[in-house]
Amino acid sequence: MRVVVLLLFILAAKVQAADPHSFSNFALVSHPQLSLDLTADFDKQQLSGFVELQLDWHHPDVRELILDSRDLSIENVMGQSANGKWVKLSHSFGDKSSTHGQALRIEFPEQFPKVRIYYHTSPQASGLQWLTKEQTSEKQQPFMYSQSQSIHARSWIPLQDTPAVRLNYQARIHTPKELLAVMGADNSANTDKDGDYFFRMPQAIPAYLIALAIGDLEFKAMSERTGVYAEKVWLDKAVAEFSDTEQMMQVASSLYGDYPWGRYDLLILPASFPFGGMENPRLSFITPTVIAGDKSLVSLIAHELAHSWSGNLVTNASWHELWLNEGFTNYVENRIMEQVYGPERALLERQLSVQDLENDLDQLDPKDTLLVTDYTGRDPDDAFTQVPYVKGMLFLQFLEQRVGRAAFDPFLKNYFQTFAFQTMDTEKFLRYLRKTLLNDPDIVSMGEILEWLYQPALASTFVAPVSDAFAQVDQQRALWQKSGKLTDLQTNSWTIHHWLHFIGQLAATVDIAQLQQLDQGFGLSQSQNAEVAAAWFKVALAKNYTQAQPALQQFLVRVGRRKFVVPLYQQLSQSPETLGWAKAVYQQARAGYHPLTQSAVDKVLKFN
Ligand code: BES
Ligand code: ZN
Repeated sequence: MRVVVLLLFILAAKVQAADPHSFSNFALVSHPQLSLDLTADFDKQQLSGFVELQLDWHHPDVRELILDSRDLSIENVMGQSANGKWVKLSHSFGDKSSTHGQALRIEFPEQFPKVRIYYHTSPQASGLQWLTKEQTSEKQQPFMYSQSQSIHARSWIPLQDTPAVRLNYQARIHTPKELLAVMGADNSANTDKDGDYFFRMPQAIPAYLIALAIGDLEFKAMSERTGVYAEKVWLDKAVAEFSDTEQMMQVASSLYGDYPWGRYDLLILPASFPFGGMENPRLSFITPTVIAGDKSLVSLIAHELAHSWSGNLVTNASWHELWLNEGFTNYVENRIMEQVYGPERALLERQLSVQDLENDLDQLDPKDTLLVTDYTGRDPDDAFTQVPYVKGMLFLQFLEQRVGRAAFDPFLKNYFQTFAFQTMDTEKFLRYLRKTLLNDPDIVSMGEILEWLYQPALASTFVAPVSDAFAQVDQQRALWQKSGKLTDLQTNSWTIHHWLHFIGQLAATVDIAQLQQLDQGFGLSQSQNAEVAAAWFKVALAKNYTQAQPALQQFLVRVGRRKFVVPLYQQLSQSPETLGWAKAVYQQARAGYHPLTQSAVDKVLKFN
């Protein structure tokens, strides 16, 4: 009888809280509290030590804890019984999956309150990058950092690696004496560099937000509660570039409620960081490629900051519904940009986003263009397309336009407050939306909402953002193409946004001679703005403008941001000549890339 009850319980728990990207049995037993003690060994490129998990057992018959792991070596597992005695426990691994790692099963004689796992990581850990000193900006000391989203926390900590479980943690990190360790947690900016660091994360967060970096870092404050950690060469530049961070925080707080995490600092990573930014709590991880010198790319800071509400406070329950994190965040980001830099800039950024989305929609399998997707059996990192970001944002903008900001702003603020420190799924969001904002079906019909969520591509109720500014850029381009005179392009008044729009339209409209003329006139191959450079290289490759290749080579060796390099390698792999060239460049660049970037480019170039 008990067995049947347990089976039914397991079944119900599975239906209730399934995450196909986690092996863990989190509905039966979970770990609200985690404690780490890890030593970073830069020669071996490994973290070693232990994690201690406090356990909450949710059913009396359960005696097994299933965790997620990937490439971890387990040395020993000890459990602490209710009377305080430590005993050795047996463990085993499940089958290995290339995308999901392995289940780690631990057997208990009874429901112990604590378990301690001694382990070390592999140099290939998918969630860590180890850089030699030559691969850093200062070239004096080595560097390491983690990137846990989506399911890479399991490659450096055995745990329940699902956004459906939240935990508090504390950590003690041992490093070489000259280096500073920082975590997305309580960081004291004035810590002495002594190789022994303590952290506490008092708010409950999902595993993908656990973050660690170790390097030759220095700190500089920007305001009472914001500051920058960076290698010395970047520090002053970053402080100047991101000096509006405090103002962004004030704007976001006035719209959506007090900033709930205490400090907000930025960590500038080496250029091999595979993302633009990562919203680790209290300490966003940031690519140096957004330090453009003119604040033109700071929407990325607005974005990572916005996650303090959308994502970190209210969290998507599984990676199928990434739009609940990223779509909301893009929406909030654009509101922050509007208030800090004005409606015109916010509009241009929305318009550029729509262009990016349209490019993705052309290439994606239609079933991956729904807001609610299904990535079962696949790598959840594949959900990182413009769809959850831009289509998600556009859906919220559609709702906002229908009901008006006077109603939509308080709705969103209450949403963040009501579900703070909880997980969210689309159905739950819909119920809340219906109950609190759309009780009148005349304003928005269920059919209209369902089309946005469950139909491919853009919904029929989508209204494209349009600006005069970009229409003028298009006019000038037409004039120049007719006259052949660069003076027809009034670029003095152009911002990065105008340039990005201009370059984005070139592939369809110009020939190679015109590209050469533009490059000579404006030095686009040499652009120091990474977004402009990447967009330009894309056109250059499409048009076979080989003169851009030396600059492209430098770019690919210097920058490891996946959004830039993977599409460029994809383009290069289209013809045999450029494929050969790309392989040679990659040979030089590969060692400097993050493991995630490496495996993505390996696939594209069929390398190894
Ligand atoms: N949380 C994401 C990064 C991410 C998404 C990592 C999915 C792994 C899987 C982060 O907030 C983000 O969206 N970064 C963007 C920048 C942004 C301005 C759109 C990026 O890295 O390009
Ligand atoms: Zn994001």
